[in-house]
Amino acid sequence: QIQAVIFDLDGVITDTAEYHYQAWGMIAKELGLPFTREFNENLKGVSRIASLELLLGQAATPHTYSPEEMEEMATRKNEFYQQLIQQVTPADVLPGISELLAELKAHGVKTGIASASKNAFTVIRLLGMEKDFGVIVDAAKLARNKPDPEVFLTAADALGVDPQFCVGVEDAVAGVEAIKAAGMFAVYISLQENMSIADMNLNHTAELNYSELNQQFAAIKN
Ligand code: BG6
Ligand code: MG
Repeated sequence: QIQAVIFDLDGVITDTAEYHYQAWGMIAKELGLPFTREFNENLKGVSRIASLELLLGQAATPHTYSPEEMEEMATRKNEFYQQLIQQVTPADVLPGISELLAELKAHGVKTGIASASKNAFTVIRLLGMEKDFGVIVDAAKLARNKPDPEVFLTAADALGVDPQFCVGVEDAVAGVEAIKAAGMFAVYISLQENMSIADMNLNHTAELNYSELNQQFAAIKN
């Protein structure tokens, strides 16, 4: 039996992954760097500064920036992002999420948010979901980034659930790697290629279903 479901936020609970993409796009444009949706897949689940490093690595001729310049670019990306998320409302919760949360609650399954974003609390507040999760991990307190399992293990610990009874839900490759490294059952939601290490591959949040999830979870435990 599943005891807890731990969700990524951006791209799983709501489509803020799109706003991260748009905000990085503005920085890339200013710097004259190539930036595609395909490349953006590599930034999903990746911390702000690590994302900037990957983006700058796209330059045809490498340029070294000082830590202050890096900090300034990362801050500006975040300012663009914070402007973009002002439009988030409770109507932006992705299809299937509220239904799944209600089912989980009805069955006594705990829930948490394991996001790399320092804006996670703001997004959850804009969605009106402050009361929907047993824990929202504070990304500012983490030492290691996904694919390190720290954020998922921190959530499981806060919920008082053994990782082997947890399900993690992600839209990012680094995120699924983190879930598996935490010893949890991994659900990958993406229109990209399936991930072989994921325990369940879905194209869309609307396909999330409690009984199906429980069946698949039980199946791999036997
Ligand atoms: C993750 C996103 O949830 O959070 C990444 O998938 C983002 O795109 C990361 O870079 C960090 O977010 P923030 O809000 O702290 O810059
Ligand atoms: Mg995500």
